[in-house]
Amino acid sequence: MKDRRNNHPAAGFRLAAFLACLFVPAAPAAAGDPAAGERVFNKCKACHQVGEGARNRVGPVLNGIVGSPAGVVEGFRYSRALLESGLTWDQESLAGYLADPRRFLPGGRMAFPGLRSETEIADVIAYLAGFGPDGTPK
Ligand code: HEC
Repeated sequence: MKDRRNNHPAAGFRLAAFLACLFVPAAPAAAGDPAAGERVFNKCKACHQVGEGARNRVGPVLNGIVGSPAGVVEGFRYSRALLESGLTWDQESLAGYLADPRRFLPGGRMAFPGLRSETEIADVIAYLAGFGPDGTPK
């Protein structure tokens, strides 16, 4: 007789649960490494500052950026595209923007080609997430 064990409804559920465990760690929101992100941030430093005493340069101060609406740093003249984007900078939107700023935000003014590696993106987001709105560590 044929072995019917795999047709039991619970088998499918167990399989789904097993697959979910496999896939969750690979999700795009995978937590990055802030220490590695600090090194990635060297690529941003030509234009951005973060931390206590940070000032707007070519780009806006990035304190408290993770979770913040786009375009709200005082005293920075943003592009119209960014001001009208309606974006909130969460893991997903930051990842899209940092991978390819011009494609993600046509008309935006960030003259940066983008980070190619997903690890670098996750790491730099984790680094930025460590600064509160006033630049002190969170
Ligand atoms: C060549 C200069 C330059 C570099 C390099 C650069 N940026 Fe920017 N960035 C800008 C400018 C200019 C803006 C404002 C864009 C606009 O108004 O469209 C901006 C905007 C941003 C914003 C949106 C800020 C807000 O207040 O909404 C984030 C987030 C950001 N940059 C992150 C980064 C990160 C992270 C890096 C490094 C991986 C980086 N940028 C590299 C110039 C730069």
